[in-house]
Amino acid sequence: MATALAQQSPVTSAMPAVECRGIGVRFVTDRQTVNALDDISFTLKQGAFLSLLGPSGCGKSTLLRVIADLVHPTAGAISVLGGTAEAARRARALGFVFQDAALLPWRTAIENVSLPLEVGGGRKRADGPSPQELLALVGLKGRENSFPHELSGGMRQRVAIARALVSGPRILLMDEPFGALDEITRDRLNVELLRIWKETLTTVVFVTHSIYEATYLSQQVLVMGAHPGRVREIVPIDLPADRPLAIRESDAFVRIAAHLRGVLGAE
Ligand SMILES: Nc1ncnc2c1ncn2[C@@H]1O[C@H](COP(=O)(O)OP(=O)(O)O)[C@@H](O)[C@H]1O
Ligand SMILES: [Mg+2]
Repeated sequence: MATALAQQSPVTSAMPAVECRGIGVRFVTDRQTVNALDDISFTLKQGAFLSLLGPSGCGKSTLLRVIADLVHPTAGAISVLGGTAEAARRARALGFVFQDAALLPWRTAIENVSLPLEVGGGRKRADGPSPQELLALVGLKGRENSFPHELSGGMRQRVAIARALVSGPRILLMDEPFGALDEITRDRLNVELLRIWKETLTTVVFVTHSIYEATYLSQQVLVMGAHPGRVREIVPIDLPADRPLAIRESDAFVRIAAHLRGVLGAE
């Protein structure tokens, strides 16, 4: 199963997944001008797990939307998988998971996962995983025919993750996907997400305002400050790849989390 789930071609793995150079986004409305992002630069390697960490309103969602080609930068340049963000979107190289699973209530779990294959010219990669395999991957084997209202909040987010993976994206963009879940479910899904990330070899950009979630999940954390949204520091997370939840009690983890808190608090 691991090979069928791998989304990435080794031939192009030297090319960055995302490269941002001096990205700025300014929203102009009748009443005001908002500098949502200012001079954002970073390079994200393929297969990496990056979190965007920062207070509400610092531009995390906007940055994710720039990568997804849903917002156009007003300054700077972005490349996604070596081309434009638009080309990556058209090639269906991007999967998106939001805080709210946004499932169609009249479709079963498996029908929700299949949806992207039915609309907008979506197509499963010939060697890619099936909706059935993806539901098993996210721990929902046996719940294929359940409707969203029959599933818990955590299960609905699992369906949303399976749906985001169905067209074989190279990059998974996740905007506070576990923010509305209770802590125990969130812990469990954090563990699951790391497993899924390793099995699929997908690049992940994960938005959170939880220091612990960012530390636990990531290889790198891009810490942002607000007004305007800027990069404060890109912090490498020097923890072993194998991360049981108990790692959160280790000295190394506590030290990194304290550092992130310091960067967040810095003026
Ligand atoms: N479409 C939009 N029009 C005007 N302002 C926006 C729009 N989207 C976001 N903003 C503003 O840009 C800033 C960053 O927003 P956002 O990216 O949602 O932050 P975060 O996700 O970190 O909470 C906020 O001040 C927000 O009000
Ligand atoms: Mg947001």
